[in-house]
Order: sequence, then C-alpha cells, then structure tokens
Amino acid sequence: MDDSRQDKKKEEYIFGLDIGASKINLFVGISEGENVRVVECGDFPLKNADEYDLVVETLQQAVQVIENSTRVDVRDVYVGIAGQHVRSHSFQGIVTLPAGEVREEDIENVKKQASTVPPSVGEIIHVFPGEYSLDEDLHIRNPKGRTGRRLGVDVQVVTARQNSLQNLAKCINRAGLNVAGFALEPLAAASAVLTNDERELGVALVDIGAASTDIAVFVNDSVRYTWSLNYAGNSITSDISQCLGVPISLSKAEEIKKKYGTCTISNLIEDETFPVPAVGNRGDVPCSRKLLANVISARVHEIFKYLQNDLKKCQVDTLINGGIVLTGGCCALEGIEDIAAKEFGKPVRIGHPKGMTGIQEAYQNPSYATGIGLLYYANMQHRDRKKSETGAQIKVSVKKGFQRVLEFIRTYL
Ligand SMILES: Nc1ncnc2c1ncn2[C@@H]1O[C@H](COP(=O)(O)OP(=O)(O)OP(=O)(O)O)[C@@H](O)[C@H]1O
Ligand SMILES: [Mg+2]
Repeated sequence: MDDSRQDKKKEEYIFGLDIGASKINLFVGISEGENVRVVECGDFPLKNADEYDLVVETLQQAVQVIENSTRVDVRDVYVGIAGQHVRSHSFQGIVTLPAGEVREEDIENVKKQASTVPPSVGEIIHVFPGEYSLDEDLHIRNPKGRTGRRLGVDVQVVTARQNSLQNLAKCINRAGLNVAGFALEPLAAASAVLTNDERELGVALVDIGAASTDIAVFVNDSVRYTWSLNYAGNSITSDISQCLGVPISLSKAEEIKKKYGTCTISNLIEDETFPVPAVGNRGDVPCSRKLLANVISARVHEIFKYLQNDLKKCQVDTLINGGIVLTGGCCALEGIEDIAAKEFGKPVRIGHPKGMTGIQEAYQNPSYATGIGLLYYANMQHRDRKKSETGAQIKVSVKKGFQRVLEFIRTYL
C-alpha cells in the first residue's frame, strides 16, 4: 500500500451504494462526528438493470473509477433497498412489568416481542417503535420510569424478500465489496431532504425513479408506512413510445421525455411541435408538445392517485400534516409537484439533498437524494457501532480490572 493510502486509513471513510434501475451511485464520505464530508460522488448509468452480469460489470467499473480518483479502498458499503419485495407491517407487543415500573429492559423486551415475526414474513431490515401503552393509558412516547402492570407497543417492521437480498449481496460481493448493511431507500433519502418540522408534523417522502415509485410516511424518526408501485419514469417513457402517433423506440422516447417533456401544459404555445425522426431514415415528423405533455401528465396523475388511494386504504393519510416531499429523477419534469399537490390535496415540494459539506452542486439534485442519504445512514450506523464498541471495551476493561483486584486479593490476602 502506498503512503497516501496509508495516510487515508486514519480517516473514517464511509460508503453509500444505490443500485437503481437506471444508474449506480457509489458515494464516498468521511465521518466527522454528526457530520459527513462528501469526498466523491460517482454516477454510472445502467443500461439494463435486469441483466445481472451487466450490473456486476458496471459496479466493478464504478469501484475502480472511485478508487482511482479517491485513492481509497472501497470495502464496506451501505446499500439501499426498495421495490415491491420490500414491505412494512404493523405489529403489537405486550409484556407484564415485573418491577411495577417501566425499565429500559422492559422497553427492549416489548420491542423484541413485537418484532419477533415468522421467517415467511421476510428478512427484517428495520424495526421502528411507534407509541407505547401502559395499562389503559395510550399514545405514550417514552414510558420509562412510569408505574403500571402491562406495557404495550406498536411497531412498524420493514422486511425484504430473502432471495432478493441474497442476489443483491451476491452481485455486490462479486464486485469485491462487503455489505455493511441494507437501508430502506426512502429512509436514507429522508435523512438528506426532510426538515425536523416536517418530521414532527408527519410527512410522506415519494421517490419517483425509473422502475418504481417508493413512498414512506415518517412521524418523527419513525417510519409508519411504506409502499412501492411498479410505475415510474420507465412507464412514462413507454407511454411516450406508444402514444404519439408515430412509432418511437424506447431509447428515443427517453430522449424526447428529457428534452421536451413537461407536466405544465398551460405554459405551452398552442401549436408548438418538436421533431421526431421517422422510422427508416425518412426524415423528421413534427409532433405536438401538448400531446406529449398530456401523455406524461396522465401517467403522473395515475401514479399519485394510486399512492393516495393506498395511503387512504391504510389510514395513514391523516398522519401527513407536514406535506409531501418528492425525490428521484422524475422530479426533473416541470410541474410534477403541482400534479402531486392536486392528487394528495397537500403541500408538495421537491427534495434537494443538502446539509453535508463537500457536495458538488450537480449532486444537490433529487435523483441523488438516496445516494447522499445512504452516507448519512452509514455515518449513523458507524457512530452507533463505535459507541457500542467503546461501551464493550469499557465493560471489558472494568471486568479485567475487577479480575485483577480478585487476583490481587487471592494472591496477597
Ligand atoms: N430531465 C428529465 N426529464 C424527465 N425525466 C427524467 C429526467 N431526468 C431523469 N429522468 C427520469 O428519471 C428516472 C431515473 O430516476 P432515478 O435516477 O431516481 O431512478 P433509479 O434510482 O435509477 O430507479 P429506481 O429508483 O426505480 O430503481 C428515469 O426514468 C429518467 O427518465
Ligand atoms: Mg432510485
């Protein structure tokens, strides 16, 4: 190892990996206490996320590029997960209180009981405790020290399908990396874009990517609901390729969407057109921008309608008093937040990742909220691990000290 790499070992590097349907983001940061300094952001387009070997190959290239530019060995990465195999479940736990008072261990026991779920539910990724109950008293946020006989808790458990996780881990291992942990993508994105007052009031984060739209509802630091819909940017692209009246390939439709697409129909000039190359090099055909905007808006309306219906069905829409925050690449569609505001009937804003030092302007973009958020998540886990290691070391040294005293007593008395 050369000297510069040796020096860099002293820094506490953390890594976030977002393998999306359209790109791989590999981000590097340095843990600086509660803060993270962003060192490098790598954005690598994925041609076909369904082709396993191609994903591995792109990831290998990503690692090489990032290692060359930062001269840091990328190893333990925090990985985002989302999609339909990720589910959230509500469970309740209840325990009796042997001491007649709520102690830390009773809180741990009741959380453990509530989150003991059969393996068929999936691999547990996160457990979020909600409110506690103590005998007949409900809606308690922190029951510690109170007197009672029975302690109850509502927990939200986020699970993922085991074989999906195994496949993802295998692909990451094949690129020479270790999975330090998995994190729900909207949870990661939330730490990069949400404000404290939004969390306090209750907020929904909606990430509109290429293959899926993922939503999570947060109240304070707890996730109360999460859901994934198989409609997102790729569905818009496929609508464009089918509905403009001229046959267009998916790659051309994607290009048109990015260049001429908008959700704001009212801003368009009545007869405004854009050129579409006709099949077989037969020159360009003019296409109506209004028609394009209508095709895009119809799908965007539909996506938000599905989400709103599910929020209502699960009775979580009433928790969202702080509004909706949108992230993901589709936020680049002008006016998307207005459609969301209409469908949800709540204030909507676009979430730009912020708060970290060193993020270049290009990455303060809603498409990178998950990648940047994974660095926050990695930092939090890194700090927790260090804290518990320090705790364990103190315990070990106390134990050792105690043993030494015993040895001393045995030897000399
Ligand atoms: N300027 C733009 N106008 C319209 N859509 C855009 C624009 N830029 C990106 N997109 C769309 O955003 C989507 C990609 O977003 P993002 O990078 O968040 O997805 P991903 O993380 O790869 O996918 P997923 O989260 O579904 O796994 C694509 O469908 C892309 O077409
Ligand atoms: Mg994504």
